[in-house]
Amino acid sequence: MKKFFVTGGAGFIGSAFVRLVLEENEDISIVDFDALTYAGNLENLKDVDDARHTFIRGDICDRDSVLNAVPDGCDAIFNFAAESHVDRSIHSADEFLRTNIIGTQVLLDAARAKNVRRFVQISTDEVMGSLPDESDDYFTEDSPLQPNSPYAASKAAAEFVLRAARETFGVDTVTTRCGNNYGPRQFPEKLIPLMIANAINDDPLPVYGDGKNVRDWIFVDDHCRAIWKVYENGRSGEAYNIGARNEKYNIDVVKSILDALGKPHDLIAFVTDRLGHDRRYAIDPAKVEDELGWKPQMTWENGLQSTIDWYLNNQAWVDNIRNGEYRNYYKAMYGAELKAT
Ligand code: NAD
Ligand code: TYD
Repeated sequence: MKKFFVTGGAGFIGSAFVRLVLEENEDISIVDFDALTYAGNLENLKDVDDARHTFIRGDICDRDSVLNAVPDGCDAIFNFAAESHVDRSIHSADEFLRTNIIGTQVLLDAARAKNVRRFVQISTDEVMGSLPDESDDYFTEDSPLQPNSPYAASKAAAEFVLRAARETFGVDTVTTRCGNNYGPRQFPEKLIPLMIANAINDDPLPVYGDGKNVRDWIFVDDHCRAIWKVYENGRSGEAYNIGARNEKYNIDVVKSILDALGKPHDLIAFVTDRLGHDRRYAIDPAKVEDELGWKPQMTWENGLQSTIDWYLNNQAWVDNIRNGEYRNYYKAMYGAELKAT
């Protein structure tokens, strides 16, 4: 039995990864370590009813808790835990620097102390900054790290911390840099679930600026399968860009959601742009495709429809969030009250 230590496994991508790994492998057990911040949700794990899954609530910055929780003979640490929302980082960066940088250092130290075989860092394409509008440029693994938001800066710093652990102490590290994920169980502060939830509830859909920013979307399980490939066969010390060659203007994503739900486009409300808003992300995934034989399995059309269906079928999950602290976040962020649900 291989033992994994997964951080952030109650969040959106981490919970999808835990579910997929346990479903597809019989010889793996997982310690799932998560602080349950506003974004962590045990509901995300309620169908992971498996004797091979142990959940521990804890903070990745807390050395003693981490050292106690990493199992002896651990094969790999997968670090998903992070503060992950750009808008929140613009409002207040401290927690991003703490969790995303210090937390990564603490985990690397634990990997060393416990002789963990491999450390997999879940990074983001956002560390590479922004590409020019409508250019033929793509992010490759050779693109310079030039983060523009406090969130992206903290994730880039984590990559340097990782590099230092490898160069100084020989920790076996690999890094994934993925584009924008979408799928079930994504916290509705991010574009796609926010727009789905608002459309279902006939709340206005706030589109920043001219809506012509481009994001490169990937279904969450495809990202998780790429992480698996990188864990298994990625070259030590290397980063791998993950993307499904699926660039979309934000405004087109929003219109597709309204169309799929049969809602009118006049729910769209253009609002003040995000500060420092990155214009375009676009990933060249040739390295992970050619070296590791990874390909995305989900099409955009099926992925978006199945995501919308999940939110329609799990309105209690969304309402629980929308009726809590999120209402205050939304009011402060958008200057508007959400309708009661
Ligand atoms: P998320 O915000 O949904 O989940 C983050 C999880 O980390 C939550 O469960 C939260 O409780 C936990 N967490 C936060 N601080 C913690 C701490 N100090 N100690 C322990 N746990 C803590 O995020 P996500 O969208 O699932 O992203 C997961 C990872 O993937 C992040 O590292 C993010 O940078 C990266 N990533 C995300 C995307 C995307 O589109 N969402 C794209 C590329 C990379
Ligand atoms: P987001 O989901 O926050 O991801 P990221 O900023 O990490 O790419 O945003 C995706 C895009 O959608 C980004 O260009 C900002 C835009 N956006 C809006 O237009 N309105 C919104 O309410 C949100 C949350 C995002």
